[in-house]
Amino acid sequence: MADNNHRRIIWRTFIGRWADVRSLLLLLLTVILAGVSVSTMADNDKWVQPERSVIEQTPNAMPFYPSRASTQGRALTPEMFDSAETCRGCHQQIYQQWQGSAMAQAWVDPIYQALLQRASAATDAKVDNFCIGCHSPIGMTAHNITTADLTKSFTPPGVSCEVCHNISAVSGNDNGAYVLTPSENGKRVKYGPHRDAASPYHQSNYSELLTKSEFCAVCHNVSHPFNSTPIERTYDEWSESAYNEQGVQCQDCHMTPGPGVTTNPGKSAPMGKQRDHIASHHFTGGNVTLHKHFGQHEMAERAREMLRSAATIEVLTPEQTLLGGELATIKVKVSNVGAGHKIPTGFPEGREMWVDFKVTDSSGNLIYRSGAIRNGKTETGTRNFKVYLGDKDNNVVDLDVWSVDRVLADTRILPKGYAIVDYTFTIPTGIQGPLVLNAELNYWPFSQHLVDELLGPGKLAVEVVQMTSVTQSLAVQLQLAQK
Ligand code: HEC
Ligand code: HEC
Ligand code: HEC
Ligand code: HEC
Ligand code: HEC
Repeated sequence: MADNNHRRIIWRTFIGRWADVRSLLLLLLTVILAGVSVSTMADNDKWVQPERSVIEQTPNAMPFYPSRASTQGRALTPEMFDSAETCRGCHQQIYQQWQGSAMAQAWVDPIYQALLQRASAATDAKVDNFCIGCHSPIGMTAHNITTADLTKSFTPPGVSCEVCHNISAVSGNDNGAYVLTPSENGKRVKYGPHRDAASPYHQSNYSELLTKSEFCAVCHNVSHPFNSTPIERTYDEWSESAYNEQGVQCQDCHMTPGPGVTTNPGKSAPMGKQRDHIASHHFTGGNVTLHKHFGQHEMAERAREMLRSAATIEVLTPEQTLLGGELATIKVKVSNVGAGHKIPTGFPEGREMWVDFKVTDSSGNLIYRSGAIRNGKTETGTRNFKVYLGDKDNNVVDLDVWSVDRVLADTRILPKGYAIVDYTFTIPTGIQGPLVLNAELNYWPFSQHLVDELLGPGKLAVEVVQMTSVTQSLAVQLQLAQK
C-alpha cells in the first residue's frame, strides 16, 4: 500500500515536472508563433470573438482545454486542498453562508448534472473539462473528474472556499481563465481582501483581484468553447454599465447581507480583527427553485428578496378617457433599478422574466390577459425578457447548448435601463365603471417544460417568483351612442 502510494507520488512529481517543462515550452512556442499574449485584468477582451484565435491555434497551451484554467504548470493533487469543513473550524459564519449558496451546489445541482450528461454524450466528452472547470475547479484540476464520475459515489467540491481563495491571478475574463495556486513555497496560502490579516493556520496574501468584478468574470462570462459565441455575459453586461463607472463591483451587491445593506461589521474568525465590513458569503442570486430543492428555505427567501429589489413596474395609462367598444392600447414600463447587469442575466437557456397582464371589469370578470403559463411555458405572445440562442441554421436552441452558433434575440433589460411593452384589446361595449389593470413581473430560472424535459415530469417543481406588481384603474365612459 505505502509502497504503491510512494510510487504514485514519484510518478506524479515526474509528471508534474514534465508538465512544467512542457507547458513552458509550449507557451513560448505559441507566444512566438501566434503572437498571443496572456491578457491582463484591465483588458476588455469580449464578445467580438477575441478568444477564437487563442482557442483554435493554441489548444495545447491550455492544460485543461477547452477550459482556460491553469495552474502555473504544476500538477495539482487532492491533498493540496482543504475541505470547507476545515475552514468552518474558524470561519463558522462564512461557512454557513457559503454552504447555502448556489456555488456550493455547483456540482451536485441536478439540472447541471442532467445537462452535463447530455452535452458530454453529444460531443464525445469534448466539453467535459469546459463545464467541470467552472462547476468543480478542484474536481477538474486535482481529481481529473469526468462526466463518467457522475455515477460514482465520490462527490467533488463545487465552487468551494479553496477554489476562490487559491486563485492567484486571472489570464482573461471568461471560460474559467483562473490561475489556481494552492500553496506557495510549500505553505498553504489564502488570497484575501486585507493586507493585515494574520491566521495561525494559513498564510494570508493580499489580493486586490478578489475585491474586483474581474475575479468573478472568469466564471460569469461563458463563451462557446469551439466557436466563441457569447453564451453567458454577466461580467460584460456589468463592465459596460454605470455601475462599473461608479466602481460598484459584483462583491458590493452579492457579498453584503442583502439588498440595501452595505456593511456587515464583525470578525471573520474568533482570533481575527474586528472590522467595519466582513464580506458575506451567501452569494444570493435568483435561483429560488434550486434552493427550495435543497431544502434551503432561508436562502430561497433571500433570493426572492434579491429579485424583488431588482425591478419596478408602472402602467402608463392613456390621457383621454376611453369608450366602451373602442380599442385600448396600454403601455407597461419595466425598469432595472437594482441589478448591476441585465435582468435576467446568466444561464441563457432558462432565465426568463415576463409580464403577466390582466384586465378585469369592476365585478372581476376577465376581459384580457397576456402572460399566462400554458404547458409549462409562457404562452405565445407573452412580453418576456430573455435571450434566444440559435444554431447555424437559425433554429432556436434551448438544451443542445453545444450546437449554439449565434444569439438570435436578446430582449433583457440593461442595468439602469427600462423597457416599454404594450397591449391592445377591445373594451367591451356597455361597460359600467372603471376597468382594473394588473401587471405582474414574474421570473423563473427555467421553464417547467425545460426542467421536465431534462429531469422527467414531476421531478422538480419550478417556482414562479413575483418580482413586483402594479394595479391601476382605467376610466371608461359608457358608450351611449350604441343604445
Ligand atoms: C485556526 C483558525 C483558522 C482556520 C482553520 C482557517 N482560517 Fe482563515 N483566517 C483565520 C484568521 C484568524 C484570519 C484573520 C482574520 C482577520 O484578521 O480579519 C483568517 C483570514 C482568512 C482570510 C482573509 C485573508 C485576507 O487577506 O483578508 C481568508 C480568505 C481565509 N482566512 C480563508 C480560509 C480558508 C479558505 C480556510 C480553510 C481552508 C481557512 N481560512 C481556515 C483563521 C483560520
Ligand atoms: C447593483 C447591484 C448588483 C451588482 C453590481 C451585481 N449584481 Fe448580480 N444581481 C443583482 C440583483 C438585484 C440580482 C437579482 C435579479 C436577477 O436575477 O437578475 C442579481 C442576480 C445575479 C445572478 C443570478 C441571476 C440570474 O438571473 O440568473 C448572478 C449569476 C449574478 N447576479 C452575478 C453577478 C456578477 C458576476 C456581478 C459582477 C460582474 C454582479 N452580479 C453584479 C444585483 C447586482
Ligand atoms: C465564489 C468565490 C468565493 C468562495 C466560494 C468563498 N469566498 Fe471567501 N471571499 C471571496 C471574496 C471575493 C472575498 C473578498 C470580498 C471583498 O472584500 O470584496 C472573500 C473574503 C473572505 C474572507 C475575508 C472576510 C472579510 O471581509 O474580512 C474570509 C475569511 C473568507 N472569504 C473565507 C472563506 C471561507 C472560509 C469560504 C468557504 C466556507 C469562502 N471564503 C468561500 C470569495 C469567495
Ligand atoms: C470558479 C468559478 C466561479 C467563480 C470564480 C465565481 N462563480 Fe459564481 N457561480 C459559478 C457557478 C458554476 C454557478 C452556478 C451554480 C449552479 O447553480 O449550478 C455560480 C452561481 C453564482 C450565483 C447564484 C446565481 C443564481 O442563479 O442564483 C451568484 C450570485 C454568483 N455565482 C456570484 C458570484 C460572484 C459575485 C463572484 C465573484 C466574487 C463569483 N460568483 C465567482 C461559478 C463561479
Ligand atoms: C465559464 C464558466 C462556466 C462554464 C464553462 C459552464 N458553466 Fe454552467 N454556469 C456557470 C455559471 C456562472 C452559472 C450561473 C449563472 C446563473 O445563475 O444564471 C451556470 C449555470 C449553469 C446551469 C443552471 C443551473 C441552475 O440550477 O439553474 C446549468 C444547467 C449549467 N450551468 C450547465 C453547464 C454545462 C452543461 C456546461 C458545459 C457545457 C457549463 N454549464 C459550462 C458557469 C459556467
